[in-house]
Amino acid sequence: SKRVTPHSLAARKREGQRFAAVTAYDYTSAQIVDTAEVPFILVGDTLGMVVQGENSTLPVTLEQVIYHAGLVSRGAQSALIIGDLPFMTYHASAEQALHSAGRLMQEGRIGGVKLEGGVEMADTINRLVQAGIPVCGHVGYTPQSANTLGGPRVHGRDVESATRLIRDAEALETAGAFAVVLELVPATVAAEVTRRLTIPTIGIGAGPDCDAEIQVFHDLFGLYTDFQPRHTRRYLNMAEDLVKAARQYAYDVGERSFPGPQQYSDLTPEARHRFYA
Ligand code: KIV
Ligand code: NA
Repeated sequence: SKRVTPHSLAARKREGQRFAAVTAYDYTSAQIVDTAEVPFILVGDTLGMVVQGENSTLPVTLEQVIYHAGLVSRGAQSALIIGDLPFMTYHASAEQALHSAGRLMQEGRIGGVKLEGGVEMADTINRLVQAGIPVCGHVGYTPQSANTLGGPRVHGRDVESATRLIRDAEALETAGAFAVVLELVPATVAAEVTRRLTIPTIGIGAGPDCDAEIQVFHDLFGLYTDFQPRHTRRYLNMAEDLVKAARQYAYDVGERSFPGPQQYSDLTPEARHRFYA
């Protein structure tokens, strides 16, 4: 089937066709999401938490996102796959950003990159797009700045910060971004940004009026249980079910009911006779 592109996502917005996006970090999860026809897969730096067990996205390296992007690229044939540029791999200069994004796209075999920031990232985004790299923006709460922002909180609650957020999103579109993630933004402000932009807005904790919604795989399916953000809905309780299943497996092994006759082969009666002879 045909690969989803940044352009085809813009067409969805024009046609009023809202779409879903999900993160994935490996072959198996990418295959699941792709088979479900989710058109946008993000190899997010949330892999720091849900895969590596760190407590933020900051320890994640470019090499690690490249590695996970490669796994995802082999699992998803149709979705557009975008990879997060990690903390400190694009802030030093546009050249650094070009080098990092180029490696992520080329070595990770994916369709573009996402980076965090508003107006201050516009020149960098412009350079990347000029070089042929599709860029997704990310404004509102930006987890790579957790240390300067003081942790997760809603951005754009007052008129001044709402105005700043709208300016940031507009600057991303002008710079050539093909979409923008709005994280922890008041629903009314997210709706206004969505109305003003021609590129799709992808909300997370940003209300029902964005052009798309993105969620972390492990949150959606109840795999990651250390913390459940308010903006998530659990569609499965996989961790619970997996613990039950693992317990049953361990019990069956202890009770000698696994493996059963279906799970192994044995010598023919004649060979068995000779074996003991
Ligand atoms: O890293 C990530 O998973 C993200 C999404 C939650 C937007 O940036
Ligand atoms: Na991220």
